[in-house]
Amino acid sequence: MKDGAGASKSDVVFWNRLSGHYDGFMRLFAREYPELLRLISAELQQKDAVLEMACGTGIISQQISPLVQRVTATDISPAMIAVAAAKAQKLGLANIAFSVQDGYALDFADDSFDAVIIANALHVIPEPLRMLKEAGRVLQPQGKLLTATYCHGENMKTRFLFWLLHLTGFRAWREFTSKSFGELVAAAGFAVEKTRLLHIHFPLIYVVARPFGYIEFGSASPEEV
Ligand SMILES: C[S@@+](CC[C@H](N)C(=O)[O-])C[C@H]1O[C@@H](n2cnc3c(N)ncnc32)[C@H](O)[C@@H]1O
Repeated sequence: MKDGAGASKSDVVFWNRLSGHYDGFMRLFAREYPELLRLISAELQQKDAVLEMACGTGIISQQISPLVQRVTATDISPAMIAVAAAKAQKLGLANIAFSVQDGYALDFADDSFDAVIIANALHVIPEPLRMLKEAGRVLQPQGKLLTATYCHGENMKTRFLFWLLHLTGFRAWREFTSKSFGELVAAAGFAVEKTRLLHIHFPLIYVVARPFGYIEFGSASPEEV
């Protein structure tokens, strides 16, 4: 991890503590994940070098690793990375490299990856714009950002659940709506190509975006996937 990276020690302690329960929690509540995994997989190619930021226990990295050349899975929490690495080893997934890294300041050169994934993370991070800009730095100019975030600001019910979540001590920093999340991605220097609101238990906005300046003939305005 680079010096002066920015994530607080209490964030690391919080996520370390959750690492043992995270997969059980996701199995129960993240009903949108099978469809999210399908959408992310559809964007990837066998030649791709993929970075996952804030990978947690590696649910996404494990799913996509057979589809691409290599996956670099990073997270601020050493305990999350330990769980993810143990699972990958058990599954024999040899093309995933794990490292503890702060998403505000990664240890990778500019333009290192064909795709960067950030899922279920930008609403639990104090400075999501900063993390998205860092994703843009390490992404190749023709690369793809694949990102998804729960939208606690979407309606009255989700705002109420956000309030309840806070009472449990859960650290969610942003009440995104699908609109405000798209705006944040654009503010970080990306052109949004596709969006899809997945909603079973809770609204999850999925966005495919390219670094601003990437031009593909016929790609004018965002489409729904
Ligand atoms: C809700 S979990 C999501 C995990 C995974 N992306 C998934 O979809 O299951 C949020 C993750 O963000 C990580 N995180 C929080 N702050 C971070 C930071 N500054 N840099 C990198 N990861 C961070 C936490 O350690 C945690 O594993």
